Amino acid sequence: MIRNFAGIITASYKLIKVCEQIEKVATTDATILVTGESGTGKELVARAIHKLSKRSGNFISINCAAIPDDILESELFGYVKGAFTGAFNSREGKFQAANKGTLFLDEIGEMSLRLQAKLLRVIQEKTVQKLGSNVDEQVDVRIVAATNKNLRDEVVKGNFREDLLYRLEVVHFELPPLRERKEDISVLAHHFLEKFKSKYSKNISMSQSFIEPLKMHEFRGNVRELQNIIERAVLLCDSPELTSKDLPAYVLKNIDVKEEYKTDVCDKKELQTFNLDFDRINLVEFLTNIEKEIILRALEKAGGNKTVAAEMLNVNRTTLIEKIKRLCKEAA
Ligand SMILES: Nc1ncnc2c1ncn2[C@@H]1O[C@H](COP(=O)(O)OP(=O)(O)OP(=O)(O)O)[C@@H](O)[C@H]1O
Ligand SMILES: [Mg+2]
Repeated sequence: MIRNFAGIITASYKLIKVCEQIEKVATTDATILVTGESGTGKELVARAIHKLSKRSGNFISINCAAIPDDILESELFGYVKGAFTGAFNSREGKFQAANKGTLFLDEIGEMSLRLQAKLLRVIQEKTVQKLGSNVDEQVDVRIVAATNKNLRDEVVKGNFREDLLYRLEVVHFELPPLRERKEDISVLAHHFLEKFKSKYSKNISMSQSFIEPLKMHEFRGNVRELQNIIERAVLLCDSPELTSKDLPAYVLKNIDVKEEYKTDVCDKKELQTFNLDFDRINLVEFLTNIEKEIILRALEKAGGNKTVAAEMLNVNRTTLIEKIKRLCKEAA
């Protein structure tokens, strides 16, 4: 069953369990740590937590890896006029901007030890001091932090404060990579198809030959990679249906060849290179061998998927299956 948790689309039992926990804790003030590989949906989860929290303030996001340490500090805490060269006016920081809302600290694993100490203080005291000021200001901010690093390893390496980790992971959600929830590939492909159909005003459907190789793909870039593949396909496709031809070459190349298909036509060692020897040539046998090799190669390239292979060869699926059966009989 396909579920939609405040924008998190999934049919995966693993992710549904995570989302059900998200629903439970969203309305509390608990600090939340979201971990998972790149592109698994950490920011989407943070936004869902905010939506479900019903907190009246804003969702404010800041990427701790993208900004140098001193600028991150002034972005987070704000500053008073004259706090440093160039501070011509006072400015509020992200903590204040997220007051009564949610502050999403993305890539928290990259934050310096110095700022980690300051963050810990904010979490404990619920107050912030602008740079250049010694006035404590009350803030009511729900913190959601995310990282694709293993923070326990970072603690061991001395890069992350253990006390901050305990504070952050009051609730910890680990998002499973897409390859561990393969049922989501088709579900999300359809979801993104609808999204990009309306974005680019195109009426396009998806054929099995498009979706099947995706189901076999590893998706190191997780959901973001799938989303990019669908967007590119919708953008570039001129026909009313997406087929294997609309997939990037690396998706077709990297799919594992299923053993059953390797032996489907004949044994692999029977693959031959053809030498024209007019003293002994048998035209029918020669053409059969060429046909056999082409079918084998197409099946390999299609990851064993007959629908995809048939499309590559421009024949009907049933024609291809008949040819495979005939070649198997001849090889027996
Ligand atoms: N379950 C999902 N349903 C719908 N869209 C999703 C889902 N998971 C991820 N996405 C979409 O995929 C893209 C990547 O997700 P997101 O930016 O949240 O990943 P991330 O884990 O923060 O990645 P990174 O570590 O690279 O920052 C976004 O456009 C997001 O909306
Ligand atoms: Mg992110």
